[in-house]
Amino acid sequence: MVYGHTRKHAQSDEPDSYLCLRTQVLKQLDIKCCRFTVATGLYTGYDYNCPAHEGPVFSSSVEQDKENDVTQEKKTQDFGENPLDVRDTDHYKDEYVSGFVDKWDELIDWDGRANSEGDFFIRLLQEHGARKVLDVAAGTGFHSVRLLENGFEVTSADGSPEMLAKAFENGRKRGHILRTVHADWRFLNKSVHDLYDAVICLGNSFTHLHSDNDRRKALAEFYATLRHDGILILDQRNYDALLDHQVQPTHNYYYCGDNVKASPEHIDESLARFRYEFPDKSTFHLNMFPLRKEYVRKLMREVGFQKVTTYGDFKETYREAEPDFFIHVAEKRYIEGENE
Ligand SMILES: C[S@@+](CC[C@H](N)C(=O)[O-])C[C@H]1O[C@@H](n2cnc3c(N)ncnc32)[C@H](O)[C@@H]1O
Repeated sequence: MVYGHTRKHAQSDEPDSYLCLRTQVLKQLDIKCCRFTVATGLYTGYDYNCPAHEGPVFSSSVEQDKENDVTQEKKTQDFGENPLDVRDTDHYKDEYVSGFVDKWDELIDWDGRANSEGDFFIRLLQEHGARKVLDVAAGTGFHSVRLLENGFEVTSADGSPEMLAKAFENGRKRGHILRTVHADWRFLNKSVHDLYDAVICLGNSFTHLHSDNDRRKALAEFYATLRHDGILILDQRNYDALLDHQVQPTHNYYYCGDNVKASPEHIDESLARFRYEFPDKSTFHLNMFPLRKEYVRKLMREVGFQKVTTYGDFKETYREAEPDFFIHVAEKRYIEGENE
């Protein structure tokens, strides 16, 4: 199947990237060619005869197309002979295989998750005067769609084309055309040339970065794409509780699907390996880095965020070991004398 790839539009000299959806997807989704201008954040046309898809200019990009091509369906994950050795940032691309992506919505359960988080993120964004939001870990599009439906202007980015295509499809089913950008956080500003009031990185996504250098670079890229007084909202599991107290998270808030089991299979100071089991007995894994809460807060301040407020399971006050998830709100706005 599918999917999208970013590349410079063949017929344009503009220094923008475009998302060209492959013909197969376009047919499948019953839409024509879309051309998305990152700089303006607008779809600029639906033209099935878009010259970018044909002719000599297109064929000169065949090598790049091959490189970006994800048409081969990958249904199963491969962690090699020793899965506990896989502690590598790039591996997320192999973890979100189509078989897992197809099951993701069963795991999170959109209605259940919307009920559990209520209007927490919507309120937070409104309180900070945010209107234009970049969802950098769009996944299957849950937050992008919720925010769109609550009047925000949203761009959905993700490093996994499989996820992005599913997000696009989910958006279409609900009557939206998502503005999608295929981008890895470490090189975000190569593909995103606009400024946003808020960047959101939700669903325990940041934990996919396995080195301190990658985390700093990603945060610096998020910081750069924010307006001068923008905010970053980033969440993470309460790994401190897992590492220090071996507390089993309850998953009441994030993974709301019935009969789906998400459990830590292994945890040490540099690896948290989670196992996801579905009612049909299919299983998948994710190898994450167990982020300590204070470490993330410190990193955020070190890349320039002036103030970081951390919520526990959507509450401002909590006992450290209790929450399943922490939500950090990092403010870029300059605060004189702020010294946490
Ligand atoms: C745990 S999923 C969460 C998806 C969604 N936010 C949710 O809550 O359902 C993590 C997402 O982050 C994306 N991701 C992981 N590492 C990334 C990176 N370095 N750059 C861009 N996206 C990345 C994955 O492709 C995946 O879609």
